[in-house]
Amino acid sequence: MDFRKEPWLGEPLHRLLLRLPPERAHELGLAALRTGSGLGLKNYLSSYKVEDSRLHQELLGRTFPNPLGLAAGFDKDGRAISALELLGFGAIEVGTVTPRPQEGNPRPRLFRHRQAATLENAMGFNNAGAEALARKLSRRLESRAPHRHHGGVPVPLGVNLGKNKITPNEEAVEEYAGLTRRFDGMCDYFVVNVSSPNTPGLRDLQTAAAVEGLLAAVLAETSSPVLLKLSPDLDTGQAIELATGAIATGAAGVILTNTTIDYSLLPSAHRVGGLSGRVLRDRSFELLRAVAPKVFGRGLLVSVGGVESGAELYRRLRAGAGLVQIYTALAYGGPGLVGRILRGLLECLDRDGVASVGEAVGADLA
Ligand code: FNR
Repeated sequence: MDFRKEPWLGEPLHRLLLRLPPERAHELGLAALRTGSGLGLKNYLSSYKVEDSRLHQELLGRTFPNPLGLAAGFDKDGRAISALELLGFGAIEVGTVTPRPQEGNPRPRLFRHRQAATLENAMGFNNAGAEALARKLSRRLESRAPHRHHGGVPVPLGVNLGKNKITPNEEAVEEYAGLTRRFDGMCDYFVVNVSSPNTPGLRDLQTAAAVEGLLAAVLAETSSPVLLKLSPDLDTGQAIELATGAIATGAAGVILTNTTIDYSLLPSAHRVGGLSGRVLRDRSFELLRAVAPKVFGRGLLVSVGGVESGAELYRRLRAGAGLVQIYTALAYGGPGLVGRILRGLLECLDRDGVASVGEAVGADLA
């Protein structure tokens, strides 16, 4: 059978997963992806992929095959990187990783709000810890054939860093610096995550002084680009101050945004975790629009929150984002979504006579 013509397995499998409890579905989905690439279903997985040179872009000193990245938290432990590359993502961010393994919060801690195309999560940085991820990433580097990406441009990899729950904020700097040392040379960029709502006190690190201290310590450990990931619940003024301060300290860019705890966006929320997906879309876009004029041209803007279509991806690019990430839409949309979004983006480029993604980025900034 020519798997390339029609992905036939992913959609029914995904429909089945949506009938299971959300965290179980997520685990099985990741396992299916990993097994698929391991069993040699590479052609099948990559039949989802959209490869087009109009989507290529130089960012952070790398070539990105397209501007649609996987957001942090989907593959926290780097279990399915090859499969996610095959699916067609333009970048993959693993983590959040913490120095030591941790369980995260008690289950249930992930909830669907399906009508609103929204997820609510209180995971709490459940992850297998830095050593486990480092082993995975070094194995990946060793086995890296010249064309591990199955044709086209290699897919840049980011590592998103956090601190262990029990570590007091005063000691956070050493944890972020230590993680950077551990992963230096294993990835294409780092993310300093101080914006998860599910680790008590973490967001208190979103002050100008704390961010400057963290970034300076991380930058001292690596020559790779470092991005700062911010919360959508900051005042717009604060977000601008933190973003510009981060760039002044040497960060290569900012990621806007993590999940929100503004439950006015979803009255039916359980109010236990951060909301992501459609209810976050407008706030995420609003922050991008507010921060872009101050950062565009000086640092990379990465936009994430409620993106589920090519048109929305295009809107974020035009507003100044060089890279756009998704998580929740993938959970609801299944494996075909990456290709659908990228084909939608190509339609927008065609319609407007825009020759490439690079030309779209920042086009709406005066
Ligand atoms: C996340 N997100 C996240 N972010 C992060 O920096 N580190 C993490 O470990 C996680 N974990 C995580 C788990 C789950 C279940 C979800 C739904 C989300 C946030 C994610 O990367 C992204 O910023 C938001 O979800 C907004 O994007 P979407 O989901 O609206 O496309």
